[in-house]
Parts: sequence; structure tokens; C-alpha cells
Amino acid sequence: MNNETGATPHEPAVTADDLSFSSLFPTTRRGAHAVRHTAERWLAAHLPPEQDAASSSLIDTATLLVAELAANAALHGRVRGRSARLALALTEDAKELLIEVTDPRGDRLPAQHAPTEGESGRGLLLIEALADDWGVQPHHPGGKTVWALCRR
Ligand SMILES: Nc1ncnc2c1ncn2[C@@H]1O[C@H](COP(=O)(O)OP(=O)(O)O)[C@@H](O)[C@H]1O
Ligand SMILES: [Mg+2]
Repeated sequence: MNNETGATPHEPAVTADDLSFSSLFPTTRRGAHAVRHTAERWLAAHLPPEQDAASSSLIDTATLLVAELAANAALHGRVRGRSARLALALTEDAKELLIEVTDPRGDRLPAQHAPTEGESGRGLLLIEALADDWGVQPHHPGGKTVWALCRR
């Protein structure tokens, strides 16, 4: 069984260095939750919050964005037997963070709709409000990447 997203069959499951982090995650509620915590730990290690308030706020914003994007990949971007990928990339001056979540469903895209009574429909509104920019691009050979950019 191919457990990778469409275009990354030979990429390692997790890679990390000082400026980038990447991890496959199962498209389940638990998988999305776990990758959010891993991302938060990586961000805290590479943008130490005690050093300045802007770092701390970037970590908080980025963690929320990761949570929403990963939850959407698990809920709406799911293809049985395939995982999704989270990638984080910091610029060298640590002022800009790119968050990318790739899921295997290329035939369904994020679509804003008015929030309903419950929790549904708020994720993209939050992303729109918190990210400096965001978008979607096709992921070869299948799936798509939803990305969000945060600047401090
Ligand atoms: N990764 C995704 N793949 C496919 N569809 C998505 C994805 N992310 C969001 N969507 C679509 O956009 C809608 C709005 O997303 P969101 O605001 O997060 O609301 P919710 O997840 O609560 O439904 C979803 O209901 C879904 O139809
Ligand atoms: Mg959502």
C-alpha cells in the first residue's frame, strides 16, 4: 500500500533542520492533532518564545494555522491509505514562516462558506484573518497543497 501523498513516494517520513520541518501524517483527527503538537515543538525550539514577544506570537499564530490546515486535510482531503504532509519553512532572518499542508485529494478544494451554528466553516475564516497570505496549488501527480504565510 502506498502510504504517501501522491507526489512524494520516496521522501522520508520526517525531516527537520534549523529552517525547515516536514512530516507525513495520517489523515485522521488523531494524526492531525499529533502533527500540530510536533510542529509546535519544532517552532518553539527554533523561535524561542522567551527571546521576544514577536516570536511568541508567531508561534501561536502558526500553531493555529497548522491545526486548521491539518484538520482540513484529515476531514476533507482524505484518501484511504494515503497520508498527508506538513512542511514548515522559516526564512533565515526568522521573520517569515511558510506552512504547507499537502493532502491527496485533488478533486476537492477549500471553499469558503458562511459559518453554521456549530463549529463548521470557521477554519478558512480564521486562516484568512491570521495568515498574511494563503492559497492552494495542485500537487503533482495528485492532490493539492494548501499554504499559508506568516510574517512577524
Ligand atoms: N483540504 C481540503 N480539501 C478539500 N476541501 C476542503 C479542504 N479544506 C477545506 N475544504 C472545504 O472548505 C470548507 C470550509 O473549510 P473550513 O472553513 O475549515 O470549515 P470546516 O472544516 O469546518 O467545514 C470545508 O467544509 C470543505 O468543504
Ligand atoms: Mg476546517
